[in-house]
Amino acid sequence: MNKTVEVLPDQPTLVARALELILSKLDTAIEQRGRFTIALSGGSTPKPLYEAIANQKLPWDKINVFWGDERYVPPDHPDSNELMTRRAWLDRVDIPAANIHPVPTLEANPELAAAKYEQHLKEFFNSSGVEFPALDLVLLGMGDDAHTASLFPHTEALKVRDRLVTVGNKDGNPRISFTYPFINSALSVIFLVAGANKRPALAQVFAPVADDFAYPSRLIRPQGELWWLLDAAAGSELQH
Ligand code: 6PG
Repeated sequence: MNKTVEVLPDQPTLVARALELILSKLDTAIEQRGRFTIALSGGSTPKPLYEAIANQKLPWDKINVFWGDERYVPPDHPDSNELMTRRAWLDRVDIPAANIHPVPTLEANPELAAAKYEQHLKEFFNSSGVEFPALDLVLLGMGDDAHTASLFPHTEALKVRDRLVTVGNKDGNPRISFTYPFINSALSVIFLVAGANKRPALAQVFAPVADDFAYPSRLIRPQGELWWLLDAAAGSELQH
């Protein structure tokens, strides 16, 4: 794993740097493999980034969008990551519907939704035999409890190592989430973290020794590239 940490002065420059990095990886992937596969995070931090991506002129037919985690709510629910992403980005560009791969949250239960998403991913990557297919890029956020995707501290989801997708749990609310081994199979992982409220969690995630199950973002150690893009509010005093 090669890890890069960049601290940007503020959120607009953080978003601009994230956009630049994503576009660079997109160009490389399409040049080398004819397509770009990206898994998105939810929450509030990435929204301006998604709006900025929508303003780019890109080969949308070569771009495939997944979600690294999703709340177990219908796609028109205000908490839906898919809804946020469609409004900020996907509804504003002519990306083929077949290139958008939402989590099937209308399934009867979260376990079924996770299993169906995993099956879809395996079929998309035609990954029979390959245990963990490699996305070009997984974009992650980090909560102030050091969770990422929907891998929350001290939850069963952190123990799942033989699946691509599992059921996370936030305060009793089910979430659908990539597992950390699947995230770690990506060619690149970018954390986008902003705000002073994330400082304590970042200190634990970057500490030489700490409990991975207490600070789940510590589990993200991809064999490819790991990027931490932080604003100064979150990362100006981080020892890295
Ligand atoms: C989600 C996200 C989650 C998010 C963090 C940070 O579904 O909420 O995937 O993991 O990235 O909670 O959220 P903020 O960007 O809102 O701080």
